[in-house]
Amino acid sequence: FEYGPVPPTKYEEVIQHLRHNFPDEPLNVAVGLCKHDEECKAFEHHNLLTLKDGLSVMAVDSNTGEIVGVALNGIARQGDNEEGLKEVEESDSREFRLIFGLLFNVNHELNLFEKYNVDKIFELRILSVDSRCRGRGIAKELFMRSEIIAEEYGFKIIKTDATSLFTQRVCERLGLTVAKSVRYKDYKDEKGNLLYDVESPHDYYKVMLKELPDHSTKG
Ligand code: ACO
Repeated sequence: FEYGPVPPTKYEEVIQHLRHNFPDEPLNVAVGLCKHDEECKAFEHHNLLTLKDGLSVMAVDSNTGEIVGVALNGIARQGDNEEGLKEVEESDSREFRLIFGLLFNVNHELNLFEKYNVDKIFELRILSVDSRCRGRGIAKELFMRSEIIAEEYGFKIIKTDATSLFTQRVCERLGLTVAKSVRYKDYKDEKGNLLYDVESPHDYYKVMLKELPDHSTKG
């Protein structure tokens, strides 16, 4: 596999890759926001904005030229969580409200910007590997390369919303620690039904982060 940045000419292919592979993400499986090979407007709009931050990494099969994995990395700025919460409130999609309501609320409460005295955070937002190529270390390599980019650009914090146990493993291997951990089964509606009936072993959503040394070489 070859690894490198995602040029704008590849954005459409990344979206197609995600349509096919990312619906396996455990929180999405439980809530059903995105379906395999179907357009998922709100989610894809966010992914395109993230790609435009220019910090994402892809893995390409050197034989076929096909994208087999992506790490979509974006810049989180102060106020983003609060704007996200507004968007969640206004959304008419229950699934969107459920997933992004959880993520934005947890991050709003954590307030990492204040805690670490930073105005921007390098956020690894989406980690996705082709279902035919999983378990071969591609996610780990994508994450490692993302961290190098974060350091080059002078970010002090790299952070991810790890909704899957497998992503949590990658994060642990790379030295990220848990800033906040929530158990999916603790969220219920007023009738006592689970809001996030996420399949084991994905029992927790963890916000994980690492403080980076200053190796900045870029603006
Ligand atoms: N069963 C058990 N462990 C697994 C499995 C599996 N099916 N798949 C991966 N792992 C473990 C690996 O053993 C490894 O842990 P280790 O270092 O302790 O051995 C770790 O997870 C990472 O393994 P990789 O091979 O680097 O991961 P992979 O390339 O398979 O990609 C990913 C993992 C991205 C989660 C993939 O399964 C995927 O695309 N899933 C669907 C989308 C998704 O859930 N994305 C993550 C959501 S969170 C976020 O995006 C920030």
